[in-house]
Order: sequence, then structure tokens, then C-alpha cells
Amino acid sequence: MYFLKLVYFLSLVAVVALGGVGASDDCKDSHSPRCRKSSTEHQMHPRPNKPFVSRGIGNAQERTSDYWLNLGYNHVRDKVNKKLNTNKAKNIVFFIGDGMSIPTLFATRVALGGEEKQLSFEKFPYSGLAKTYCVDAQVADSACTGTAYMTGVKTNFMTLGVNGQVPLSDCKAANNPTTHTESILKWALDAGKSAGIVTTTTVTHASPGASYAHVADRMWEDDYQVRQSGCDPNETTDIARQLIHGAEGSLFKVILGGGRGHMRDAKFPDEEDGFGFRNDSRDLISEWLNDGKPNKRYVWNRNDLLNTPTNTDYLLGLFENSHMKFRQQTEEMNAQNSEPTLEEMTRSAINILKKNNKGFVLFVEGGLIDHGHHYTIPKAAVGETIEFHKAIQAARDILEEKDSLIVVSSDHSHTMSVSGYPTRGNDIFSKTDRTLGGVGLAGDGMPYMTLSYANGPIFSTQYSSTGRVNPDNSDFSRWNSFYPFLVPTTDLETHAGDDVGVFASGPHAHLFTGVMEQSHLPHLMAYAACIGHGPKSC
Ligand SMILES: *[C@@H]1O[C@H](CO)[C@@H](O)[C@H](O)[C@H]1NC(C)=O
Ligand SMILES: *[C@@H]1O[C@H](CO)[C@@H](O)[C@H](O)[C@H]1NC(C)=O
Ligand SMILES: [Zn+2]
Repeated sequence: MYFLKLVYFLSLVAVVALGGVGASDDCKDSHSPRCRKSSTEHQMHPRPNKPFVSRGIGNAQERTSDYWLNLGYNHVRDKVNKKLNTNKAKNIVFFIGDGMSIPTLFATRVALGGEEKQLSFEKFPYSGLAKTYCVDAQVADSACTGTAYMTGVKTNFMTLGVNGQVPLSDCKAANNPTTHTESILKWALDAGKSAGIVTTTTVTHASPGASYAHVADRMWEDDYQVRQSGCDPNETTDIARQLIHGAEGSLFKVILGGGRGHMRDAKFPDEEDGFGFRNDSRDLISEWLNDGKPNKRYVWNRNDLLNTPTNTDYLLGLFENSHMKFRQQTEEMNAQNSEPTLEEMTRSAINILKKNNKGFVLFVEGGLIDHGHHYTIPKAAVGETIEFHKAIQAARDILEEKDSLIVVSSDHSHTMSVSGYPTRGNDIFSKTDRTLGGVGLAGDGMPYMTLSYANGPIFSTQYSSTGRVNPDNSDFSRWNSFYPFLVPTTDLETHAGDDVGVFASGPHAHLFTGVMEQSHLPHLMAYAACIGHGPKSC
């Protein structure tokens, strides 16, 4: 009986698989291109089980030819009339959206109102792609990529500001200065420009760290972490000390982000809650304040940042003991005033840096896009991408295109994908509204979400050892709702290896095109600003 059922089932499968081929014998077990094509074409591209209704369509004109033709003609004219800007870049703002993959851009456009929307930096006239692999890793982390885009040298996974000679976590290998790489912020300082860093993570995290630190392990943000790795903090200088006392970090005019705890010993209470993370009795914040340089200001909340006196020359703003909060989290807590936005930090930074008539190089990171993806909470990743987009718009508004280059990129991708065939304007955070096979459901009888991840944390409410969790029984309404994934990981969702976008506006922006190594980015910026050791435009 069971056998007969199985035969019946298999014959059904065969009928489905053969599709429109007809009962031709040679297609029964054949994987010939002809058989494969005719049997799978309709499965790859199933017809809508309901018509495309114009529920969320961007513009009624879209149904006419003229609308698209005019849009296209105008685009061609804009491109043809665009004069190359070959001025020297006095100022550079380099934005990195940590983990801001291409699908993240798509999801953010829809969240901002429609598939046709453009993020601030998508309006920039030139763009390209960067390849993110590292010396010993196919899929990168933020330390080896930070070293690539900040210093122009690719290196080993999780190592920071050192070349591929330094093995991960080797206590002393990075003490050899010949292994150190030089960042574009150092090149700027050497040329008499001002330099600064802004991030929503700790200021000692991998991405900003690549501009001033030289360590064999990105986790060594403080001496406690160095000791946890079995190294002696007296022989291996942690990242926070390199920021406050190092050759580059000590000269930064602006340092804004999170991470007070990495600056202070465990005996010092934090301004908001908890204690420092260090074990060496030090308070690097007071060491920074008392190093003898004039007009220094330390702030730890939004109000004090926004009231920074104009005569401030050095600004250290640390707004959390560890990473800053997701913007949506501060909204939920009704605590928007406890921390500045990325846009506010960017504006404050430019206000200080622009006082140098030789110009500046500023690094700005939207660091929590990555964290949203790691937790498979895409609403947070998209929310942080919107904050990032606003900060870039502000920088472009403040600084003139004729002398200020803005470059926007990402360090690496993530595993989130946008899938199914949802109708135009369908809520990007909802179920795919038009599912496969004509029955309105996936093959397992359940609906599915447009956004999902290739892998994710096993502790997620979206993990079940018996198969998919039915989206109809899940809560996707919160900013931190977990989304579905395929492979359960023992920690968090992983990065992905595909290329990231590069967007440029200002002097020599036309150089930032094509498919390039991520490590080429700082050399192109240095060329535009006539700094560094490589080719220069003047
Ligand atoms: C590091 O050096 C300090 C002062 O020189 C000393 O007090 C401390 O014990 C040393 N720490 C370690 C782990 O050797
Ligand atoms: C060292 O720092 C950790 C926090 O990073 C703290 O829990 C611990 O108590 C500290 N140890 C000492 C001896 O201060
Ligand atoms: Zn990450």
C-alpha cells in the first residue's frame, strides 16, 4: 500500500517536472538542456496568481511610454552634460555603512516610500563596486576590510592596521613597525589637514580603529581584552590606548561615537550606568583632556554635543559605555535626546574640522546597520541605513561639490535577500503577497516573508528544529522582530562575500567607477586630495 502511494507520488512529481514537454520518453530521466528548459521554465518564472494591482505604484504616469522615455532622455542629457570635476579635493568625507549590502539599499528605498526612491548617495553621479575578500578570507570581517579601505592594504581576517605578515591574535607580531599600514587619516595629518572619526559603534571598534590602530586582533579594544587573549597588556597596546596616545589618534580633532567603558578602569563609574571595562587603573578620557592641547572638550550626551562652543579645537564625544543604541531603540524608550543622531555627529564634526584652511579628512561610519543584520532584525538595519543616508545628505549640503569629495561605501555584505514576487509597493517587511503555484502559499503550505537570511541565530524565535516557523504565527510588528533564515548558527548571522557599492560626488568622483579592489579606495581619495605616497593629481 505504502509502495503504491510512493509510486503514485513519484509519477506526480514526474508529471510536474516534465511540465509542457509532453510524455516524450527521452525526457523522463534526461537532464538534457531541452528537457530541463521546458520543465523548469514555468517553475523559475511562475505566472502571477493574481494580477499586478497598482496598490503601491510610484506614479500613475508609469503606465505610459512617455514617462519612461523622458526619464531616460533626461538621464542621458545629465550624463552627457556632466563636466568632470578635476579640482583638488580640499576636504574628504569618507562614509562607510557597515554591512550595507546592495539588498539593504533596495529594502531601504521601499521603506522610504517606493522602489523608485533614491537614497541621498544614490543620487551621486558616479558609482562602482568594491570586492571585499581579505588575504586569508573569502568572506570578510570589518577589521580586514577597514584596513583595506582605510590604508590601501588587504590583510588577514580580524587584524587591524597591519599587513598580512601578522597572524591573528599573535601577541607581539604587530609590535614590529614594518608590519604597520598607514591610513588616509595619517596622510591627511602629514599634509597639515585635520582628521576625525565618527561612528555609532565604539570608537575603538574595527572600522574606525583601522584609521589609527595597529593590532593583531580587533577584539583588543582595552587591556582586559588583551589579557583575555593570553597576552601581556604591557607588551601589547590595546586599541583605546592607541587612540588616545598613538601617533595618529592623539592628533584627531574629532572623535565621536560610543565606548566610554574601553577608556576607563572597572573602578570608575560610568556617567549613565555601569563601570569601565579596563583593569589598569587608567582613565583615558581624563588623560585625553589633560594632555596639554588647547580648547579641548569632552561630551557624553546629545545636549552637550549640540552646545559645543565654536572655539573648540578638539572634541571627544562618547555617548554610551559600549556601542550607541539603534535609533529605533531610543525612540521606543522615548530617549531620542540621550544620544545624538549620526547626522548631528557628522554636522558637529564638520563644524570643527572645517576651521583648518588646509582642509580635512573625516571618516563617518553607520556602524549599526551590521548589527541589525547580525540579529536578523532587518527593520533595525534599514532604520540605521536611513540615519546613514541623512548624515550623507547633511554633509553634501554643508560642503561644496567644487572642493569637497564625498565617498560612500560599505565594508562587506550580509546574507539578507529580497525574494519572491511581491507586487509593486508591497510592504518590504511583510509577507510576500503574491506567492507561488497559484495557491497563494509556499510549497509547505505556509506564507513567507519577502526578506529572509541565509543563516541566523539558533536562539531566534524564527528557529524551529522541525522546519519553518509559520509567519502567520509570528510577530513582525516590532522594530526588533526576528526574520526567517535557513541555516541556524551557534552565534549570529554571518557576513556575506558579494561586492559592495561605491558612490562618489565632488573632485575626481569620476575615478570611483568600475569593479575594483576595496583597497584601491584610499589611493583614489589620496590622488584627489594630493596626499599620501602614491600618484597625486597635483
Ligand atoms: C605592567 O606594568 C606595570 C607598571 O610598569 C606593572 O605595575 C604591572 O604589574 C605590569 N603588568 C603586567 C601584567 O605585567
Ligand atoms: C577587570 O575588568 C573587568 C571588566 O572588564 C571587571 O569585571 C573586573 O572586576 C576587573 N578586575 C579588576 C581586578 O579590576
Ligand atoms: Zn559584522
